[in-house]
Amino acid sequence: MPNRTVLITGASGEIGQALIKSLSGNEFTTLVTVDLKELPEELSGKSKHFVGNLLNKDLLSGLEEEYNFNMIYHLAAVLSTTAEHDPLLAHQVNTCSTIDLLEIAARQSREQSQPVKFLFPSSIAVYGLPDLKTKNRITTIKESEWTNPTTMYGCSKLYCEKVGNYYSEYYHQLADTEPVRLDFRALRFPGIISAFTIPSGGTSDFGPEMIHYAAQGKPYDCFVREDVRIPFMVMPDAVRSLELLAEAPMENLQTRIYNVTSFSFSAQDFKDLAQNSFPGSEIYFKPDPKRQAIVDSWPADVDDSAARNDWNWQPEYNLQDACQEYLLKNISNLYNL
Ligand code: SER
Repeated sequence: MPNRTVLITGASGEIGQALIKSLSGNEFTTLVTVDLKELPEELSGKSKHFVGNLLNKDLLSGLEEEYNFNMIYHLAAVLSTTAEHDPLLAHQVNTCSTIDLLEIAARQSREQSQPVKFLFPSSIAVYGLPDLKTKNRITTIKESEWTNPTTMYGCSKLYCEKVGNYYSEYYHQLADTEPVRLDFRALRFPGIISAFTIPSGGTSDFGPEMIHYAAQGKPYDCFVREDVRIPFMVMPDAVRSLELLAEAPMENLQTRIYNVTSFSFSAQDFKDLAQNSFPGSEIYFKPDPKRQAIVDSWPADVDDSAARNDWNWQPEYNLQDACQEYLLKNISNLYNL
């Protein structure tokens, strides 16, 4: 395998930490990571880490000067709930930093005369169902359907998908220069559950938060109704899907944007799981109307058959394994139960 240099932004976040663990074992890979925060101690030394804000142009130009990237995992983002508190900040972080990184990837792909892969975590937030009646009627949703996001987060993810596709397929077609070989690929993730980290700022957080609170014996006020249902997957599958898509031969890909999922789960399902696993858990449903409205606009499930057909995507953890083998086992270890 040739040596390669991989950039991960948002590296101290939930997906970032899991991705570093997975990629850092490879002796041919040089990892460069960026985040507003330091990496947790257990990951220090696994990458060359830069603490800084992606909106700082000096940071980005310094990285561009120092490294030739072969692959960029651009994970940094303001998540859906936080974005509704500060839509302008979400726009800047989610879209401006993406464009700046796409520009770097485009320039470097031209200089290196070889593709720079750009992996982008998109989201079920790009979907926007108009009302609950429609949500209950639609069982699964395909990539091309209902892309009418109701949040700034969803709008910014959808825009970045389009722009990433533009940079890969059309950018500079009229200019008489070396072609850009940027290879943008995006996954529309469902809610992601990690056994090791607790999410913050998202709206799918009610699921993982509930389980982590219950394991610690803390009461939990769930901010959505019990009947709320959206798709989920566990972190090892999320990371694996990113890596599988990154490695898939381009000729197999019929699109640059794919749904992936594992199982559809309701807030009541999470409560049942928590109470069966950690008896005595106190969980109360206290819906917050604004966060409730966000999840009501997201589909109960997505159709990931394109990913299954084009690059053999299949989650390793079905519902039962996700709960028993991954979540409960690891969460119990984490809290010394
Ligand atoms: N997990 C994200 C959020 O809730 C959705 O992709 O914001």
